[in-house]
Amino acid sequence: MFSTEFIAFDSCTPQKAVTNDDLSLLVDTTDEWISTRTGIRERRISEGENTSDMCIKVAKGLLKKSSVSAEDIDLIIVATITPDFATPSTACMVQSAVGAVNAFAFDVSAACSGFVFAAGIADKYIRSGMCRNAIVIGAETLSKIVNWRDRTTCVLFGDGAGGALLSRSERNCYIAEDMHSDGSLGMQLTGGEAKVRNAFADPEEPDRRYLEMDGRTIFSFATRKVPASIRTLLEKASLTPDDIDWVVPHQANSRIVEVVAKKLDMPPEKFFMNIAKYGNTSAASIPIALAQMSDEGLLKKGQKVIISGFGGGLTWGSAIIEI
Ligand code: ACO
Repeated sequence: MFSTEFIAFDSCTPQKAVTNDDLSLLVDTTDEWISTRTGIRERRISEGENTSDMCIKVAKGLLKKSSVSAEDIDLIIVATITPDFATPSTACMVQSAVGAVNAFAFDVSAACSGFVFAAGIADKYIRSGMCRNAIVIGAETLSKIVNWRDRTTCVLFGDGAGGALLSRSERNCYIAEDMHSDGSLGMQLTGGEAKVRNAFADPEEPDRRYLEMDGRTIFSFATRKVPASIRTLLEKASLTPDDIDWVVPHQANSRIVEVVAKKLDMPPEKFFMNIAKYGNTSAASIPIALAQMSDEGLLKKGQKVIISGFGGGLTWGSAIIEI
């Protein structure tokens, strides 16, 4: 039996920062409403860079930071709901751009839980002995599917990518996981619909291509499921909240995180937050946070970190990793 270690983290976000005040020129909103309800002050928005472009920069950064050669990568997974194309997958575009000629590559669609699910998949390939080195990226260009006239959603989301390089190791750094989906609630958060339109079918209703959600339902779902998932995770690992150095939650709303911390009776300072700067970047939010923490020296060898994602599907999942 083999074990998995997280060797490197990296991220890439578009240059353009869009503030709440900038958005108040587009829709009827204010900095005060957005920041008090969500914790968001600005977000990065692509001026042309697509999901694959950011993923390629992340993959190159991971190879550089880890000193693993592109030929030694066996697996590339990109978690995204905003790929450049349905095919080729974003992961295949990354494989080609970095020259990872020995890797197999595919995308995973699990919205804001995507990075956590994809890291879990990579761990199983490494643990089974089938792979030695895997690149796992969460990336979104949500600005492509945001309705820039809808103030209830356009203020929430941002673009970006982040990832990790996972390798076979003597150290078991993927300690436990807890993954779930509830498709019966799927229509509470939708986007990117493509109805059947062909020579024989021409439905009248327009496609629901833009992100739409029942914010209150998602809020209550997240504040129930995330604490439950983290409790299960701790139980599986025979650990207590005191054993955990950091929780890196999906950055959807700072109020959700405050409720989660309270329900778990954990100090809010243990929950890393950068939502003020990036907004909700769906699958990218957790790896962007991990890369920032790593670059700032906040992650130290031996620390135990919970990553916890929740969102479209509906999906939710958490894992305990050791740095
Ligand atoms: N500016 C000003 N007013 C606004 C804005 C805005 N940007 N957006 C909504 N409002 C108004 C509404 O129209 C409403 O007005 P009304 O009372 O006159 O009808 C009022 O503000 C309150 O709206 P609510 O939707 O009730 O506001 P709420 O406090 O629930 O906050 C929010 C909304 C921020 C979306 C919250 O529900 C939330 O964060 N939910 C969770 C979302 C989430 O976590 N999604 C994660 C998954 S995303 C993914 O997977 C891709």
